[in-house]
Amino acid sequence: MNAAMETTAPIPTPRTRSSIRGAVRPLLSALAAAVPGIPSSGFRRNVVERIFDRDCEMVTDTLGRRVYAPMTLDGVQFDFEPNPRVQFEDLAGLLPSTPFAFGVALMTPRQLAYMFGLARRSGVRTAIEIGRYKGGATVVLAAAISPHGTLWSIDNGSLESQSPDERFARPHDEQIRDMCNRLSVDARLLIGDSTSMELDVGTPDLVLIDGDHRYEGVRSDLDRWGKRVRIGGHVLLDDVFPLGQYRRGCDDVERAVRDVVDEGTFKLVRAVDRMGHLQRIR
Ligand SMILES: C[S@@+](CC[C@H](N)C(=O)[O-])C[C@H]1O[C@@H](n2cnc3c(N)ncnc32)[C@H](O)[C@@H]1O
Repeated sequence: MNAAMETTAPIPTPRTRSSIRGAVRPLLSALAAAVPGIPSSGFRRNVVERIFDRDCEMVTDTLGRRVYAPMTLDGVQFDFEPNPRVQFEDLAGLLPSTPFAFGVALMTPRQLAYMFGLARRSGVRTAIEIGRYKGGATVVLAAAISPHGTLWSIDNGSLESQSPDERFARPHDEQIRDMCNRLSVDARLLIGDSTSMELDVGTPDLVLIDGDHRYEGVRSDLDRWGKRVRIGGHVLLDDVFPLGQYRRGCDDVERAVRDVVDEGTFKLVRAVDRMGHLQRIR
């Protein structure tokens, strides 16, 4: 999920932001104090529902950060010693990963299970990932294709540099490398822009796209990386379909997916929560 994706909106300077906060804070405090004082729980529920209907993603971000402690790969718990060939249950600690949890993989457990099952059952040997962020999905995909497969993962680091919650954690790539070593799975972490990076690793069996969610970015990832899968190979894209009212990022991604399907290169096999599964047909 594209937690704090690139935005075209101007980012206020710290000075502007703090002066806005200063002006609005007393008003917000008064409102917040007044809400529990309102005797009608029906009215309070109505207020919350209206705010949610207006801005579901903002509510999700705000609540998620309060409900869960920030997650890092360093903090992931293992209940079993991982099997010599990692099984899906070995990865359970990576799964609390809904939009609320803002976990180490920004995908739902059903999406991660689908990706793992698809990659393992179809015998993927070479996979490419665009957009790894904290690396939860990277670890899941690399584990699914182990012990003979290799995952090439591309990220330009743009989201990590915008995520203040993680300033005290170790760099994501260090954590991902340690986790992959611990599980004995092969993920090659490449740093660069997917719209221009060159990579010669032969024909991939599977490409996972979850990088720049703007139309041109997704389109470029589909054309440059998705179209490299062999005929019959698989492309998974996160944030194609809204999950309930949560639809951040979906509009552009869905349009890009619809366009490549209409052009006849891929067929849409399945929607799995927010993820789309495409298969190359020509
Ligand atoms: C939504 S996050 C990926 C989440 C990850 N797939 C997961 O499920 O946990 C998107 C990532 O794409 C990266 N990104 C955005 N634009 C990119 C580009 N043009 N090239 C490479 N990486 C990019 C960001 O740095 C960010 O880490």
